[in-house]
Amino acid sequence: MEAHPETIVEEVDLIQDPPPLMQPEWIAGAFNKGELSEAQRKALEPSDRYIAQLEWADVILIGAPMYNYGMPAALKAWFDQIARINKTFSFDLSRGDEPIAPILKGKQLVLMTSSGEFDFQEGGSREARNHLTPHVRACAHYLGVDLEVDFHHVGIEYQEFKDERHEASKKRAFEALPGIVKHLYEQSGVQV
Ligand SMILES: Cc1cc2nc3c(=O)[nH]c(=O)nc-3n(C[C@H](O)[C@H](O)[C@H](O)COP(=O)(O)O)c2cc1C
Repeated sequence: MEAHPETIVEEVDLIQDPPPLMQPEWIAGAFNKGELSEAQRKALEPSDRYIAQLEWADVILIGAPMYNYGMPAALKAWFDQIARINKTFSFDLSRGDEPIAPILKGKQLVLMTSSGEFDFQEGGSREARNHLTPHVRACAHYLGVDLEVDFHHVGIEYQEFKDERHEASKKRAFEALPGIVKHLYEQSGVQV
């Protein structure tokens, strides 16, 4: 950031300013092909705002603690706001068993997680309880992210143990960051 003052950061604090839960007016509005009612327009306002931010962004950085083995409710509410037909995805049964296609393209996603317990990674003893990273990955296409190349995850574990394993986990996470940042700038065509 200091080396690249041209970088613009827009922060969305989902805890201070949580997205509303999806209501029937939201769903009716999202599928309404005609004129929206006033209630539908109002219900979709946060979604319009979040999607405009997404369209503008090159990189999306999500910082999320694990709560009850999944994403915090505010983050799920945000995903519910941005997953919207004909805005972030299209739906066409002529595509056969994969009717959903993303509309946004070329975004980078960095997911930074924190958990009290540990071993949630693929093959880990708590893999089956991890509904945080897999859920974000499952929704990444709504953000315009190609999981193969544009998804980066850094996780800090053992927070509840507060022992040397937690310190080692933090160290590994911090060590991974410069490589990710370099990759992000290179993808944006910036020399680093
Ligand atoms: C309400 C609540 C639920 C939590 N659920 C889990 C959980 O299911 N699994 C886990 O490993 N840690 C869980 N934790 C621990 C947090 O993930 C951990 O403390 C994390 O570091 C919190 O992030 P923060 O320091 O950014 O708030 C939970 C913490 C809270 C407060």
